[in-house]
Formats: sequence, structure tokens, C-alpha cells
Amino acid sequence: MIEVKNITKSFDGRAVLKDISATFEDGKTNLIIGRSGSGKTVMIKNIIGLMKPDIGQILYDGRDLITMNKHELNMLRREMGMLFQGSALFDSMTVMENVMFPLDMFSKDSTKERRKRAEFCLERVNLSEAGHLYPSEISGGMMKRAAIARAISLNPKYLFCDEPNSGLDPKTSLLIDDLIHDITVEYNMTTVINTHDMNSVMNIGDNIIFIKEGVKEWQGTKEQVITSNNRALNDFIFASDLFRKVKEVEMQEEEG
Ligand SMILES: Nc1ncnc2c1ncn2[C@@H]1O[C@H](COP(=O)(O)OP(=O)(O)OP(=O)(O)O)[C@@H](O)[C@H]1O
Ligand SMILES: [Mg+2]
Repeated sequence: MIEVKNITKSFDGRAVLKDISATFEDGKTNLIIGRSGSGKTVMIKNIIGLMKPDIGQILYDGRDLITMNKHELNMLRREMGMLFQGSALFDSMTVMENVMFPLDMFSKDSTKERRKRAEFCLERVNLSEAGHLYPSEISGGMMKRAAIARAISLNPKYLFCDEPNSGLDPKTSLLIDDLIHDITVEYNMTTVINTHDMNSVMNIGDNIIFIKEGVKEWQGTKEQVITSNNRALNDFIFASDLFRKVKEVEMQEEEG
């Protein structure tokens, strides 16, 4: 579990995150949603310690990241897997070498064991056949899956994904969402995902934190999204045509 307590972050006197508190639970896909520029990436960067909030606490199963020294932070980082906008694979390495990379860097296991682990991760994302290929030789969806395999190679407790579906078609996006959700449940990870994709919200929104202009406006589940009366949330989701229709039907059923 990750607990964010009252974090505020400003740039040049302009507050981008305003007194945000939120809880991210184990074995769940925790989504941070909001318009472009609302502060999602800044939020995730603060959570993983790439940026330091001006005020607030960030607790990883009770351990406060803010007060950690460099060594403690490095140790905590090994419990994190990350998947950032774009897949950020190393172009000069094969898929297999990409997945091996964190293992070679941080694992004390033998070469044989590291290779076995990498093969296991590739198999988990259905890429066993593509290990010898270079990123330029595979599709965008495959790159995402390779990046997921790399992110889980060290068996992380916490997984962070910033817009994992950017650049993918809707069907491939669903597959990636499902994969992230499945491994989250399977390994009981605390997964935090930034998205503004309503399909993802309704597909894997176990726990949703909605941010508007740096303020946490609402928190709930995908089921609660449908019946929420929060105006800002409704404005955000009504921007999605398909979703407006779903919600209208739901409301009619409630009234009728
Ligand atoms: N390093 C920085 N220095 C100054 N301002 C920044 C910095 N990083 C982010 N910001 C500002 O913080 C605000 C929130 O940005 P952020 O990247 O978190 O938005 P976002 O919700 O992730 O948007 P998107 O959906 O487009 O990725 C923006 O106004 C941005 O310009
Ligand atoms: Mg962003």
C-alpha cells in the first residue's frame, strides 16, 4: 500500500499539486485520472521520488520516502517497476536484452537464473517468440508488452505506469490494460496508472483518483464513476461520447 499525505508541489510559485492525499492499494490497479496538465505526471514523479514535494508524506507500506537517505531510496527503487510514456526500450538491444537489463544491473542471481527469469517474464506477456528481435522490428503493442516484461523482471512490489496506452489502438489498449491488471492481481502489486482514457477507467478502475487542476476532486471505483454526482468528474467523463450514453441509460434506469 502507498499512502500519499497532504502533498503540495509548486513550480516558480505556481502550485501544481495542492494538498493531495490518496491511498493506493495492494493487488489493485489504482488510476490517477484527469485532463492534460492536471498534474498526473508530476504526481507520479513525486510518488516515486523523482521530484520532491514541498510539503507532505509518501508512505510505502509505512516507510516514508521523503525522509529516506540515498541508500534507502535506492533500495526502495528496486521494489519498483516503471513503465513510462512511450515504451522507452533501448533500441540497440534485443527484446531479451532489454528484459535482462535490470536483472544484470541489480540481481545477484547467476547468469543462468537471470536468463530463466527473463524468459519467464517474456512468456508472461506472450513474447517468447520475439526475444531475438529489436524494438524497430516489432509493433507498438509488442513494445509495450516488452516494456511490461522489463518492468516486472525484478518482481516489483510497486508498479508505475504513465499513460501505458498512449499511441495504441483501442483494442490493443484493452489487451495492455488487462495484462497490467492481471499481473497486478497475480503478484499482489500496488499498481499506479496515469491515464485519461475512459476505456481504461471503466475496464480496470479498481480505485480511481480524479485530479483537477492539481486538486483531488474525487476518489472511487469504476462502478461509482457511473453514479457519481461530482460535477467536475462528470464534466471530465462526459467529454467521452460513448460514456455519456452509458451514463444516460444508467440515470434513466435509476429514475424509472
Ligand atoms: N519540471 C517542471 N517545471 C515547471 N512546471 C512543470 C514541470 N513539470 C510539470 N510542470 C507543470 O505542471 C503542470 C502539470 O503537468 P503534468 O505533466 O503533471 O500534467 P499531466 O496531467 O501529466 O498531463 P498529460 O495528460 O498531458 O500528460 C503543467 O502545467 C506543467 O507545465
Ligand atoms: Mg502526463
